[in-house]
Amino acid sequence: MQSPHGVGIEAISVCVPRYWLPLTALAEANGVEPAKYAVGLGVEGMAVTHPNEDAVTMAVEASDALLKRYDIDRHSIGLLVVGSETGVDAAKPIAAYVHGLLGLPFACRTLDTKHACYSATAALALARDWCAGSGRGRKALIIATDIARYEVGSAGEPTQGAGAVAMLVGDHPSVFVFEPYREAFFARHVMDFWRPHYRSTAIVDGPASVESYLAALESTYADFERHSGLGWDDFEYLLFHVPFPKMACKAFKLLYEREVARRNGSGMTQALGEAFESRTVPSLWPNRAMGNLYSGSLYASLAGLLERGDGSVEGARAGLFSYGSGCCGEFFSGRVGPDAAAWRGKIDIAGQIKRRTRLDYTGYISFREQSARLAEEGSHTGGAVPGGHFGRVAFLGIKDHQRVYESSPRPAVSDTPFLPAYNASAHTGK
Ligand code: HMG
Repeated sequence: MQSPHGVGIEAISVCVPRYWLPLTALAEANGVEPAKYAVGLGVEGMAVTHPNEDAVTMAVEASDALLKRYDIDRHSIGLLVVGSETGVDAAKPIAAYVHGLLGLPFACRTLDTKHACYSATAALALARDWCAGSGRGRKALIIATDIARYEVGSAGEPTQGAGAVAMLVGDHPSVFVFEPYREAFFARHVMDFWRPHYRSTAIVDGPASVESYLAALESTYADFERHSGLGWDDFEYLLFHVPFPKMACKAFKLLYEREVARRNGSGMTQALGEAFESRTVPSLWPNRAMGNLYSGSLYASLAGLLERGDGSVEGARAGLFSYGSGCCGEFFSGRVGPDAAAWRGKIDIAGQIKRRTRLDYTGYISFREQSARLAEEGSHTGGAVPGGHFGRVAFLGIKDHQRVYESSPRPAVSDTPFLPAYNASAHTGK
């Protein structure tokens, strides 16, 4: 039976890595005019992971904060899906590590989804359907976690970043409510961005990736308009996958100009810049400070909008565009949930950004090199790398082909299944 409240996000939390590099320092090292990064790409800083941070630790930090700040009973979680491009193993999902490190119940389905930056949106779609159907009141924990890494000195380097976003999906959504059937997809095989198993850095055809992103947006938006009955005037906010903030600007411009053409050049109530300022800019501040989070970029924007939004954000409709290279795109809509006062103070992206430690270029290169060493068999020789003991969990390297995590406190293994009374025959008719 459909919940009268709908299905959506009940809680959202972001893990901001503890270190960052101002892009002025990267511009100086690369001999590039700083304005190219600050204005041309719209990025001010990028999150840099400490060697003891990886996709697993960031996922755990984001989820741990979520469970504590929103006072969530972990036994209510029956589905855990991690969307990531930064898989740590070809077979074992990140979700398995996270499940253990959080001490989630045994009665839980765990898996990872993969399609570059689209992966978390695919995970959310799975959660949405599960919560509306066989979830029977249980919650789904969806995590987007990634480290965006390109070659040193490459054109992609200023669009790096890292972070994780954890979202609890259920049938009492107070944060963001999905609108049923208001979604459109686009998929096409294209080699715009990929990362073979043997590499820690992505290979990218930058111009082709920008072109493919915009083509996917145009197609999904047109399809969405045709099937949803919604159009330009129905959205208070438009949020996009943000590899770098200027990309959101290009995406917004495409939709705006499309609408101008549809109206034969007349009837727009706002000029392009003004419309962009009111509908998209309020969501972009985390991306400017953290860089590309890959799967988490769109959802860090959503969290940013919610954290900074004034009272008017409650009940507002947002259109969200998710893009994953390779490629798959999706445009969907939802409404910001009620009771912003209850969740706004719990997101805390700004506080984490403020508490970060600034690196210089040498520190950034050193972290990269140490991370590469820790990713090799036999790298675990003891404790954390200096400056690495700061969170709930640390990645200490690899021993006997197994990743070693130190967790504080140690999670209690949970054997308490949460299975609400369920009469199968009532559902199957048998
Ligand atoms: P580039 O070679 O730096 O490009 O690569 P550029 O020379 O065209 O410069 C970029 C912008 O800076 C241009 O503005 C210049 O005019 C401007 P635009 O024409 O685009 O409006 N500029 C300046 N502005 C002010 N002052 C100056 C100045 N100089 C130049 N002095 C590129 C840029 C994004 C291609 C590169 O960084 C890259 O390859 N990044 C990685 C790929 C990427 O982010 N693609 C985005 C779409 S694909 C996607 O989003 C998926 C992804 O997230 C992966 C996934 O799905 O998992 C990547």
